Amino acid sequence: MCGIVGYVGEKKVTPLLLEALEKLEYRGYDSAGIALMTDNGIGIKKTRGRIADLRKIVEESGECGSTVGIGHTRWATHGEPSDVNSHPHLSKSGRVAVVHNGIIENYMELRDFLITRGYEFAGETDSEVVSELIDYCYSGDPVYAVRKAELQLKGSYALGIIFSDFPDQIFALRKDSPLIVGIGERENFIASDIPAILKYTRDVFRLDERELAVLTRRSVTVLNSFGERVDHVIEHIEWDSGAAEKGGYPHFMIKEIMEQPDAISKTIAPRLAEGGGIELGFKSISDEDLKNIESIKITACGSAYHVGVVAKHLLKKWLNIPVEAELASEFRYDDPIINERTLVIVISQSGETLDSLYALREAKAKGARTVSIVNVVASSIANESEEVLYTWAGPEISVATTKAYSTQLVLIELFGIRMAQLRGTMSPERSAALIESIKGIPEGVSHILKDVQTIQYMASLYFNSQSVFFLGRNIDFALSLEASLKLKEISYIHSEAYAAGELKHGTISLIEDDTLVIALCTYRPLLEKMISNIKEVKARGAKVIAIINEDDIQTGTVADHIIRIPECDEIATPSLTIVPLQLFAYYIASLKGCDIDKPRNLAKSVTVE
Ligand code: G6P
Repeated sequence: MCGIVGYVGEKKVTPLLLEALEKLEYRGYDSAGIALMTDNGIGIKKTRGRIADLRKIVEESGECGSTVGIGHTRWATHGEPSDVNSHPHLSKSGRVAVVHNGIIENYMELRDFLITRGYEFAGETDSEVVSELIDYCYSGDPVYAVRKAELQLKGSYALGIIFSDFPDQIFALRKDSPLIVGIGERENFIASDIPAILKYTRDVFRLDERELAVLTRRSVTVLNSFGERVDHVIEHIEWDSGAAEKGGYPHFMIKEIMEQPDAISKTIAPRLAEGGGIELGFKSISDEDLKNIESIKITACGSAYHVGVVAKHLLKKWLNIPVEAELASEFRYDDPIINERTLVIVISQSGETLDSLYALREAKAKGARTVSIVNVVASSIANESEEVLYTWAGPEISVATTKAYSTQLVLIELFGIRMAQLRGTMSPERSAALIESIKGIPEGVSHILKDVQTIQYMASLYFNSQSVFFLGRNIDFALSLEASLKLKEISYIHSEAYAAGELKHGTISLIEDDTLVIALCTYRPLLEKMISNIKEVKARGAKVIAIINEDDIQTGTVADHIIRIPECDEIATPSLTIVPLQLFAYYIASLKGCDIDKPRNLAKSVTVE
């Protein structure tokens, strides 16, 4: 999704902005641009396409020596990817340049109003309205102009703004879209995300809702919506820029797949207490509150939602209360039945996914207790939920998530066991056994990652498939959803996940000679039924890869290929099963020569509804 950077300091801003924008490429984008403060006012360079295209344009026009500027990568929402729709948007007067992440919902209304005041618009974006609106509100005081314009804006926005009258300053404002401020030596930064500026500074803070920041090379002033100065605690980022580099791997995705054992260990370790206890570190939600919860709703988007679907099966069984998983984009508009005895769990890697954030707010407004599972520290969802459980996966750059998924899964499992311990719905022996199994997951994942050749071989057999079907029952179906998403999002092969029992109600008509079916057969209670489903698709000509438990001696006799999951408890199985499926998607996409880390049309952090 759109990425913002801004710099005020003593370095030449053009190469710095281009480099910082490259670090935001992972978010997904289709055009890019920069606005520079020059001796002749604000200069804009922007283009449809990649940063490399922008770099070419900038190089052709020569270095201008500017040390103040803002930059942007755009992921099109309103208006096609084009030069004119790219950011920054410079007001026709040449006084105000703006980069924007988010959506201005009432932009048509504002546009019509500004046209009546003599303003003209060149493109179709909602963002162009912001530069012209601030220009309209401007009469010499930039802070006043930004605040006055903000009163008219409906929607979500992170904004980077420069005024030609204030060549040594950049301005930033945010609501419902992320924006951080980086503090350097005689230089300061704004950015959508930490990797953009990590090469220059590790001291950052996140702007809170509706805060406005004024940056000069020597100072950062933050004002709340009442115009009062606000002090932020500066966070020192421990991970260095290497954590956000490929480290010798061809893609971030495979690097992040390989990092899973470590990420899972780091996520589990801080929660394990002496004597088989689980330490959640909650301050607002007490043990008593957790005992009194009558139902749980898990809400999230994309892969995080798929974690919720796995967790739904486990938590329901362990807690003996209704547990549902719902897409955050649906949750909010579906009149969720929740009250103060409902626990809403929001799962999000970025902590900034707008649908998930809005679902969280809806849950809070209806009185639910809220816990989030988040990877990015101090992100909006982490800040706004009553309690947060952090996954310690480290920065995840590849759009297709892997290590965030795996860490979310073990963390929600630990949380479920803790609740079951408190509520007495799980025996101490069973909870001790489950905790032991969870502790063994990193080793199990490492074991699978040591032998990628089998998966590479299977990918080489099937990378030309037109369509792939993933089948499973119960937890295996939940895992199929994620496996199918992984494959389709990075390889562009059509793929569907189907509950195996539902197959004969429609999808089976799509099975023909050599259609690839991946059958997940790790859920022991329904193995016999899965074997029947495999026979059904085999009878229609399908080729079947079955994912099976180590001790399964039946399924191999009906499937064309098998992938064995090392022996483990049912709680560890999902964490292990997903790994070969991530690898399969990766190697297929690699053989097809796809842009694996930045699949077309996708964004890492989806900050629009
Ligand atoms: C995007 C990403 C997915 C991710 C989803 C939710 O679609 O491409 O990988 O699962 O957003 O993101 P979140 O940051 O909330 O986990």
